[in-house]
Amino acid sequence: EIHEQPTAVKTTITPRINEGMPDFSECGLDDEKLASYNNIYIVACGTAMHAGMVGKYVIEKLARTRVTVDMASEFRYRDPIVGKGDLVILISQSGETADTREALLISRKKGADTLAFVNVKGSSIAREADMVMYTHAGPEISVASTKAFTVQISMMYMFAFKLAYAKKVITEEECREYVHKLTQIPQLIEKTLTHDDEAQYAASRIMNAESLLYIGRGLDYALSMEGSLKLKEISYIHSEAYAAGELKHGPIALISEQTPVIAIATQSNIIGKTLSNISEVKSRGAKVVLMCSEDTVIKENVADYIIRIPQCDELLMPILAAVPLQLIAYYTAILRLFNLDETIASGIFDGVTYPWEVLPKIKDYIIELGNTLPTEEYDHPSENIWIAKSASVAPTAYINGPCIIGRNAEVRHCAFIRGNAIVGEGAVVGNST
Ligand code: BG6
Repeated sequence: EIHEQPTAVKTTITPRINEGMPDFSECGLDDEKLASYNNIYIVACGTAMHAGMVGKYVIEKLARTRVTVDMASEFRYRDPIVGKGDLVILISQSGETADTREALLISRKKGADTLAFVNVKGSSIAREADMVMYTHAGPEISVASTKAFTVQISMMYMFAFKLAYAKKVITEEECREYVHKLTQIPQLIEKTLTHDDEAQYAASRIMNAESLLYIGRGLDYALSMEGSLKLKEISYIHSEAYAAGELKHGPIALISEQTPVIAIATQSNIIGKTLSNISEVKSRGAKVVLMCSEDTVIKENVADYIIRIPQCDELLMPILAAVPLQLIAYYTAILRLFNLDETIASGIFDGVTYPWEVLPKIKDYIIELGNTLPTEEYDHPSENIWIAKSASVAPTAYINGPCIIGRNAEVRHCAFIRGNAIVGEGAVVGNST
């Protein structure tokens, strides 16, 4: 589904472009009506809510119209101030999420117009909204949403361009230019997907962490929330997203060399600020994976690892930035959850039991100790050290670095491991280790 995104985005935006301009006539929303709304609300859950956050930044920037984004589960229970003359946009892949559906019904009851961006045809939300625009991601089987997110963002862009033009904040020419840039995005997603090995490397750096922080500002903050959700949902590693500027108000205390940070910095007006936040977390020992555009000049040693995203209009960066974030979560999940020791120990990297073909690089990032176990000092703080299945680590061992302790291995009493460890099923870790 991650790899289906170029097609999904193309299929979603193409029918909504008429002679180079955004066209929402399929749901009966013309420029006059659109420009008349007093307030705009975007209500959704999970990933769809993050698409709404991206939408808020883009709509406010382009159309100079205030947008309130709400989690549907909060909106529905707090007697929201919404009514006639307002537009409530509901975003949902399935069209069946109970909280989003209830938010829709409440908004309608209060007299607001409702517009649904839904992926599943004929779903409850699609049927019950006043207006519906379908995203065309195709069936999304994975519970963790990926392609639905990028098509939802694409619709948010189309909406923002249309509203900005309807409100005469941008000219027809500018509107056409934005639409044109959006049509270039599918091939740039394609290009982003070719950087797959960078995501694999980043995954190998974070796979042992107990907790991670994602940071960014503005649109990059919205993406941080989505990156963090993806990681926790599929790899079961705790992570939090923080607006980078808020770090100093408390969460910086959590940062140590055991807490990797994924920083997203694609917006030139605030990149300097984010880079200074990165130096704060680095000074506390955190390892930093930085995501920025191809053209950004980053001085040496600012981050431990940089993932470059193809250059495009900065406003459209979130669609591209979403892709490596999804891949990082995916590969981290594979590394943590698959039965690594079984397959590596058997020496059949290309065996049928494990999809190594999708992880060509990861093998390079793991140091296999196998049966030649350290009896003395083994200093490798920035690699993943794999202790083989059923191996025994001597009491005198001193391992400085993150470890994967294989199934049924024995780490004998008083051995010293400095770094996070994934402990395989049945492994024994001795007293005072
Ligand atoms: C969650 C999923 O349960 O529901 C998320 O894990 C999804 O991936 C969210 O974004 C909302 O679902 P929907 O169908 O309303 O977009």
